[in-house]
Amino acid sequence: MTLSSEILDPTWTAFLYLVAAVCFILALKGLSSPKHARRGNLLGALGAFVALVTVFLSSRLENIPWILAAMVLGAALAAPVARRVRMTQMPQLVAVFNGVGGGAAALVALLELPHAEDGWLRVAIVFTLLVGAISFAGSGVTFAKLQELMTTRPVVFAGLPVLMGAVLVGAVGAAAAVVVTGSTGLAVAVLAVGLIAGLLLVLPVGGADVPIVISLLNAFTGLAVAASGLVLGNVLLVVAGTLVGASGTILTRLMAAAMGRSVAGVMFGAFRGGSTAGSTAVSERPVRSSSPEDVAVLLGYAQRVIIVPGYGLAVAQGQHAAAELAQTLESRGVDVEFAIHPVAGRMPGHMNVLLAEANVPYESLMEMSEVNGDFKQADVALVVGANDVVNPAAKTTPGSPIYGMPILEAGDARQVVFLKRSMRPGFAGIENELLYQPQTTLLFGDAKESLTRVLSAVKSL
Ligand code: TAP
Repeated sequence: MTLSSEILDPTWTAFLYLVAAVCFILALKGLSSPKHARRGNLLGALGAFVALVTVFLSSRLENIPWILAAMVLGAALAAPVARRVRMTQMPQLVAVFNGVGGGAAALVALLELPHAEDGWLRVAIVFTLLVGAISFAGSGVTFAKLQELMTTRPVVFAGLPVLMGAVLVGAVGAAAAVVVTGSTGLAVAVLAVGLIAGLLLVLPVGGADVPIVISLLNAFTGLAVAASGLVLGNVLLVVAGTLVGASGTILTRLMAAAMGRSVAGVMFGAFRGGSTAGSTAVSERPVRSSSPEDVAVLLGYAQRVIIVPGYGLAVAQGQHAAAELAQTLESRGVDVEFAIHPVAGRMPGHMNVLLAEANVPYESLMEMSEVNGDFKQADVALVVGANDVVNPAAKTTPGSPIYGMPILEAGDARQVVFLKRSMRPGFAGIENELLYQPQTTLLFGDAKESLTRVLSAVKSL
């Protein structure tokens, strides 16, 4: 079945593409602040809808039943997953969406190759094939690491740098041959080499650095989509892909800076040998533990409390209890702030979104650079389900997976209270010396339960 009449003329098509592109740009602007993020998201969806309808009304399409069936199938699979996914699993979802985006761009490029006579068009095709395949396979590995389907440690083996070098040389060689010959067989080889390169690129990345890699692969997918726009002669794909590529690149650089890393160090650090391997062994050393009532006394009679939220708060869904505790303390005259580390939790902005959901005012959320000087004047640093982001190993232990990452200086507070369930380490898999310091005490248990118990003890002070 072919849609033979193009309903929209080229002027209208260009205009509607412009509308969609403006929606995408405004969506990015909206997403840059939690206040406007919801509107940004809706604008992005509106832009995608306008783009989709425009394609249907302006192109001579073949196989429409197949296209519709694929769309219905994709929506039927994705919508329930996206609705049901827990906030803590969002990075995995982003990795999957990102991977299928790159994979789709690569497949489109493969199908377009037989029609591409022009050399530059073939360059765009091999670029899309290679980068899309890298993004697809790399995103698969990041998904497996985050879902803990495989080890989160760097996977390195003897000869990896040589193999990586050989794969890259093979990729460039095969890509050049495709540009010259237009051979589909060789293009499949480029695709295969891209998949291997994607695996080899991400396997050596340690768990703590995975978020940076997701963002980098997101940028790769953007570039692959932009190149597929050149292949298909679709301006909007070029614009949308470039926006994703640029925003992904900016986010990658910001996150790398927040973790004290260079992007090259993240990708190739493990090649230099053993530097990012942590140890998940739990030490038997004694720690000081407290009851909820003890913690309530510490907090209730403090002048200044800084709450450090982390991944465990999100897992426990303890944000409402944390917000209520902060409010109750403030009503007692205690000055309460939340200290937000840029990579606390499992995705950029995770803690901001979590606490916004519990109506914690934005003014109470302090960024690392603003709050770090305040810990010295704080009576209590209450670390709720956070670990790596306050781990002093980042400053003191060269060779640690988080060495060089700026941390929240919770250890500077007069008292430090950790709410966690056990002595197990955080995502980076390394011990935290702060747990054993004399000013530190631990309240063991699920963060939401502990917060609720501390809250009721504060109320009865
Ligand atoms: P982590 O270092 O992962 O520590 C989380 C702590 O929460 C753990 O020590 C865990 O100890 C505790 N916990 C887990 N479930 C809990 C529950 N139900 N109740 C109470 N405590 C619970 O978290 P963080 O300090 O937020 O640091 C984030 C880490 O994730 C960094 O290493 C970062 O690089 C990595 N990461 C970040 C991102 C982004 S972009 N934010 C993405 C991927 C990875 P117990 O098991 O003993 O309870």
